[in-house]
Amino acid sequence: MTAPDFPRRLTLRQPDDWHVHLRDGAMLQAVAGATAAQFARAIVMPNLKPPVTSVAAATAYRRRIREALSDGCPFQPLMTAYLTDTIEPAEVERGFAEQVWVACKLYPAGATTNSAAGVSAIEAITPVLAVMELIGMPLLIHGEVVDPAVDIFDREAVFIERELAPLLQRHPGLKVVLEHITTADAVDFVRSGPPNLAATITPHHLHINRNAMFAGGLRPDFYCLPVAKRELHRLALRAAATSGNPKFFLGTDSAPHGRGAKESDCGCAGIFNAPFAIESYAAAFEQEQALERLEGFASEHGPRFYGLPLNSGTITLERQPVAVPQRLHRNDAAGTAVDLVPFHAGETLPWRLATTAAGT
Ligand code: NCD
Ligand code: ZN
Repeated sequence: MTAPDFPRRLTLRQPDDWHVHLRDGAMLQAVAGATAAQFARAIVMPNLKPPVTSVAAATAYRRRIREALSDGCPFQPLMTAYLTDTIEPAEVERGFAEQVWVACKLYPAGATTNSAAGVSAIEAITPVLAVMELIGMPLLIHGEVVDPAVDIFDREAVFIERELAPLLQRHPGLKVVLEHITTADAVDFVRSGPPNLAATITPHHLHINRNAMFAGGLRPDFYCLPVAKRELHRLALRAAATSGNPKFFLGTDSAPHGRGAKESDCGCAGIFNAPFAIESYAAAFEQEQALERLEGFASEHGPRFYGLPLNSGTITLERQPVAVPQRLHRNDAAGTAVDLVPFHAGETLPWRLATTAAGT
């Protein structure tokens, strides 16, 4: 049998990350460079402590992100507003008009990390959603119910039925991104929904199912929210990501927590995948024999949905094995050490990011 005739180099329009946690302080300084090394832009999650709920806070956070990167780095952080029960429609609209934030993030209160100040009843923020619908501002949803009576593995599917379907009926013109989808139910719902409904898919949900959290013992590095589901769901996500359907696009949900916060008696949810994100997606697309669809998923579907220009820069991947380190130790400018475990720690991935050429 002859070896498969793989391409050895792959040049893509530079991708964007439509969902990332860049954090703040020492962690921001430790992780921002990894995202900026691959992506031209990223949608930056607002779940800081305290959350980013005002135009002033988003402006200041955007400045801190830029300061954490080297001078002249062309990376563009796209900011988001954290919706609360009391955020004013006028504040949301002003930040959008002033091009400070490009979308709003809806966390059901209590659903995930730093979501306590999130929304307790979606109907109660109808005036904000009505304004967003009017001005074409996307709503990004963490789609899980918080009802403790609902099994954690069912929280996404139940959210779709109880919350998302009625929300889309109330606001038929609202652009909605169902973030980091994890189930076949979400894939089907998004695929059969209107064109103003889309979804992001993470690299980890393309690679792991829920067994990964329990392989030989408790594995906190594979714990994230929404939690990974059964194998049939992972396969449905792979089929969606590699289908070429423009409703599905790249969003890493890279969510770093220091090792101490992951490996504790109440370990934090979140997988840090930023350093090898595009390599991870490329591995999954190659396994699905769909490398020719990677560019659409990574670099075209997202900007088209958001109504933003496509990037003019490129990245080049080479089919050369790359070893992912077990640990990443980073120091911020003040010397504070941050100790992180990257996704794919200890594995070798088949595609290596060779060059990133920013556009003009
Ligand atoms: C995220 C975090 O740590 O901020 N965690 C995660 O598991 N994805 C929050 C989130 O996006 O749910
Ligand atoms: Zn997230």
